[in-house]
Amino acid sequence: MNRLLVSPSILSADFLNLERDIRRLEQANADHLHIDIMDGVFVTNTTWGPSTVAAIRNVTSLPLEVHLMIDKPERLIDEYLRAGSDILIVHPESTVFLRKILLHIKRQGVKAGVAIKLETPVETIIHCLELVDVVLLLTCDEGFGGNPFQPLAIKKITRLDRLRKDDNLEFKIEVDGGINIETGRLSKGAGANILVAGSYIFNQEMSTAINL
Ligand code: DX5
Ligand code: ZN
Repeated sequence: MNRLLVSPSILSADFLNLERDIRRLEQANADHLHIDIMDGVFVTNTTWGPSTVAAIRNVTSLPLEVHLMIDKPERLIDEYLRAGSDILIVHPESTVFLRKILLHIKRQGVKAGVAIKLETPVETIIHCLELVDVVLLLTCDEGFGGNPFQPLAIKKITRLDRLRKDDNLEFKIEVDGGINIETGRLSKGAGANILVAGSYIFNQEMSTAINL
């Protein structure tokens, strides 16, 4: 298996100095940029839209991982593709067109991901595992940075890793929420390949924290 990747979540960045913070992440050797899109409906918080993703695209060549925490993502998928997303991640809890969306993303040459909330069983995405490049497991309650990692997540990572091995699939397992040095190690041990981290990376010396 490839090396562990770290994907800093800019939800914890200084929004008025976003470009400066992106440069810091580049210098600290971030593997991806994780961008949480929240619409105040699918989750209570609200963040950005496609124009922000396009603006970020203009200032960095880091792979942009766009986590769509929005209701009915089918309405805006093309906008996020045009904005320059490299990995587009959708939730089954937000749409009845999950497979169709994933196939559409892949046809555009972009990596497709599926994400599930902590409360959503792994079985919910069994029908699309062969289509995706990434499965993102929310490992805390959704919507805000700084929420604590929930131990239930370890069981879900283990279950997903088992399914991946049994079916000889190649998707990466990404964990998102409450990741720090300790929960990152636990997640890696259970089979995670990509760690998203927001508050942990931004709340201390970045170049040290990013070596999760
Ligand atoms: C949570 C978001 C996360 C968030 C993680 O709903 O999807 O990406 O930024 O933040 P931390 O690492 O602070 O838990
Ligand atoms: Zn996220």
